[in-house]
Amino acid sequence: MYLSKEEEKMMKGEMGYAKQIAMEILVALGEIYGAEKMVPIKSAQVSGVSYKNLGEAGIEWLEELSRDGRVEVYTTLNPAGMDLEKWREIGVSEEFAEKQMKIINIYTKMGIHPTLTCTPYLAGNKPSIGDHIAWSESSAVIYANSVIGARTNREGGPSALAAALTGRTPYYGLHIKENRAYSIKVNTPHLNLRDEYDFALLGYVIGRDSKGAIPLFSGIKSVNQVELKALGAALASTGGVPMFHIEGLTPEYMLTPNDRVEEIDIEERDLVEAREELNDYAEPDLIFIGCPHSSLEELVMVLERLGDREVKKEMWICVSRAVKDLATDLGVYQKLEERGVKILCDTCPIVAPVSSLGIKSIATNSAKGAWYSRNLNNLNVKISRLGDLIEEATH
Ligand code: F3S
Repeated sequence: MYLSKEEEKMMKGEMGYAKQIAMEILVALGEIYGAEKMVPIKSAQVSGVSYKNLGEAGIEWLEELSRDGRVEVYTTLNPAGMDLEKWREIGVSEEFAEKQMKIINIYTKMGIHPTLTCTPYLAGNKPSIGDHIAWSESSAVIYANSVIGARTNREGGPSALAAALTGRTPYYGLHIKENRAYSIKVNTPHLNLRDEYDFALLGYVIGRDSKGAIPLFSGIKSVNQVELKALGAALASTGGVPMFHIEGLTPEYMLTPNDRVEEIDIEERDLVEAREELNDYAEPDLIFIGCPHSSLEELVMVLERLGDREVKKEMWICVSRAVKDLATDLGVYQKLEERGVKILCDTCPIVAPVSSLGIKSIATNSAKGAWYSRNLNNLNVKISRLGDLIEEATH
């Protein structure tokens, strides 16, 4: 693999310990995937923030890197295991909170912005079309590739951090235009996709069946940002899909595939089956909206549907602090909190220690949220449309 003079220096440790470790990680990755060189990046998004996932070994590794490691590009952080301000309100222990703050302080010392959100593109880290980036949050990766047209592989926490510390990433996979074309075509001519819930179920089905292939959706007439977010998150979680195209609507749908393309038709009954597959129909301890973290528009949608009613069940909406600030300015945040909804920043029920908070079942409109609640956190799940969740919360 070709390395520039500066990259050689990093590799030899002439630019410090952290850059040396980081470059070793990137070169090893590049060699595995056949990269010829490194490519400079514009930004990074680093996952591996919750103490629940990192543990003591993770803290130790980060502490070592932070001795002299400073990031070279604009870098943001994925959600942590708690809301940094309201952690007591949701029952997080003192011990967990202390460890969690320690992790965030280490990342901050390295120059990383503690945005603590899986929607960095709604919180100031918004790349442009064609930008090379190194992001490690599957729902953000698929959004950046598909909707924005930026270029990133599905990085893990360590490789995204290594890219941030060196300002580079190996040039392979989705950094190369030819690899970004679709390899299956999904026809949806008779589907009535009404909202983000339907798009999430569609993403669940194609993710489950496409084995990581990049799909081109044909027959979708219009789609909004909330729906794109839901579709991508579901595709990325059930199938590890890194990118999708929608005919006529996403920026690179015209890229021509090299090989023969398989075609599949999706009908209404496929979505109904997906809903059944994802549903335990359990009475929820928690109603959760915001996977990926909600936009201002989604908060307004909830408020409109709630009207003057108060919620009678525990209900969380997870957002970035940037979106919370916007909602506060407009009075939307205050109105939702007055009605009993908890707006949480910095976290979500998937990365927070929810089982120790006594939560055993969850209802959500997100296929990703349902999938991980069941498969990572062993919760019973119920997936419903936003309107039905609000009815459930108010009765
Ligand atoms: Fe974000 Fe948590 Fe969902 S990190 S994408 S809200 S699982």
